[in-house]
Amino acid sequence: MDRTSSSLDSHRVLYLLLSLIYVFLSFFPAQSAPQSALITQIPGFSGTLPSKHYSGYVTIDQSHGRNLFYYFIESERKPSEDPVVLWLNGGPGCSSFDGFVYEHGPFNFEAAKTKGSLPQLHFNPYSWSKVSNIIYLDSPAGVGFSYSENKTDYYTGDLKTASDSHTFLLKWFELYPEYLSNPFFISGESYAGIYVPTLSSEVVKGIDAGVKPILNFKGYLVGNGVTDDKFDGNALVPFAHGMGLISDDLYEEVNKECGGNYVYPVNDACGSKLEKVDKNIEELNIYDILEPCYHGTDSMKIKTTTNSRVPSSFRRLGETERPLAVRKRMFGRAWPLRAPVRDGIVPTWPELMNSEDVPCTDDEVATSWLNNETVRKAIHAAGESLVPSWELCTSGIRFTHDAGSMIKYHKNLTAKGYRALIYSGDHDMCVPFTGSEAWTRSLGYKVVDEWRPWTSNGQVAGYTQGYENNLTFLTVKGSGHTVPEYKPREAFDLFSRFLAGQPL
Ligand SMILES: *[C@@H]1O[C@H](CO)[C@@H](O)[C@H](O)[C@H]1NC(C)=O
Ligand SMILES: *[C@@H]1O[C@H](CO)[C@@H](O)[C@H](O)[C@H]1NC(C)=O
Ligand SMILES: *[C@@H]1O[C@H](CO)[C@@H](O)[C@H](O)[C@H]1NC(C)=O
Ligand SMILES: *[C@@H]1O[C@H](CO)[C@@H](O)[C@H](O)[C@H]1NC(C)=O
Repeated sequence: MDRTSSSLDSHRVLYLLLSLIYVFLSFFPAQSAPQSALITQIPGFSGTLPSKHYSGYVTIDQSHGRNLFYYFIESERKPSEDPVVLWLNGGPGCSSFDGFVYEHGPFNFEAAKTKGSLPQLHFNPYSWSKVSNIIYLDSPAGVGFSYSENKTDYYTGDLKTASDSHTFLLKWFELYPEYLSNPFFISGESYAGIYVPTLSSEVVKGIDAGVKPILNFKGYLVGNGVTDDKFDGNALVPFAHGMGLISDDLYEEVNKECGGNYVYPVNDACGSKLEKVDKNIEELNIYDILEPCYHGTDSMKIKTTTNSRVPSSFRRLGETERPLAVRKRMFGRAWPLRAPVRDGIVPTWPELMNSEDVPCTDDEVATSWLNNETVRKAIHAAGESLVPSWELCTSGIRFTHDAGSMIKYHKNLTAKGYRALIYSGDHDMCVPFTGSEAWTRSLGYKVVDEWRPWTSNGQVAGYTQGYENNLTFLTVKGSGHTVPEYKPREAFDLFSRFLAGQPL
């Protein structure tokens, strides 16, 4: 009898205790980031991390075994209040570790002195994790460490990628609910000029339809982004002329023959003038006309900069504060001259180059680090049976551009009050600023902040024009295609000011 009552009592106590814990948890939701995703040690780095790093997979389709890989860095400032930012590299087919290793990640990677050993990792003072919680996502499946057990998933396109990334976000925020109330932004560069608006549009549709969890989406950033075949395709000739790469005569001739349409040449005369334009610029580094380029069969031979047609005062524009050299050649991340993205299959660079062995020495640091078994284990990447090797850009997916022009997306998003920053490294010839400047202007929004220089560290860092509906266009002076790689301080400034809603 005594026994029974005491056991009842202990049940009651237990019940009370559990209820109290439940009530406590509902009022004070504990940090619930999955502890299995926590990174405890980063090979190549010997210091103490200033904030928590997490990484792992989110399964977005159970039946196919389709899994997207992310690397998440808590803000080094105030994680509970700072925005959450998703970062996407382009390609299509390129891993967002490009951003992590070469652009705005927490570390600068110093190549190993001896072959076979790991790069050394140093703090990057301009890491975007200083002011934001940032998610690097490998997307779509088949890219970077993301994979699917059903290979039919590797046939994909803009719309499926956007819908998959949206599923990823909903599941990610379920795993990290403590970040749901933070302002949320989507960012990316190059072909992510397509990913960012299409994903933003999915997110907004989800919010409007009450899809749970409700994301606190605020806006987006696009750097040297692919947007519209006509605007992007017509941007090269004016860029080449403005930069002094083609003569006034040729500019006038090509204009006359083509009538301003350089994307789909209307006649042979136009075509032959465009070939002349190409002859003048084809030996330049497409990602940054100020940088030297590797050519010919002897890929290791660097053309001396004294051969450059670009004067040295002009070249100095491209000097960077980054302690390590920027890549001179970035295989696989965009297209050769005058091959803007059109509807349909987007060829990968290996296909376009029609070459079996495109040298790619400059991506060695990322490739050696991310393919080291110890590193892969430390960051929870799948084993080699699922992801045989990490590649900066893969040709293993078949990707269709099926969302058309992004202009209608930008119109819808900005009209709804979402903030947009469209920025361009102004010496990129791959997605030249002239195209982004023209399409932002074409929206017909009222200018609310007239073209003016903007500054960083007391120097003119580029130019900006602000439009109504919180749309801002901005250039970064002397920068190539991947702005934070060339101009880390300026990129950090534009990023943190935009997130904070401060004037640029
Ligand atoms: C991977 O890195 C570890 C050091 O963390 C090193 O001991 C090992 O040799 C590396 N493996 C290869 C194949 O380079
Ligand atoms: C892979 O996905 C396709 C398309 O959904 C499906 O038809 C096929 O049965 C799947 N294959 C396997 C092995 O599950
Ligand atoms: C833009 O908004 C209109 C009106 O809500 C809608 O019909 C259209 O599908 C949207 N377009 C895109 C690309 O989101
Ligand atoms: C611009 O953004 C600010 C800050 O987020 C917001 O308060 C304002 O309503 C936006 N303006 C427009 C026209 O959407």
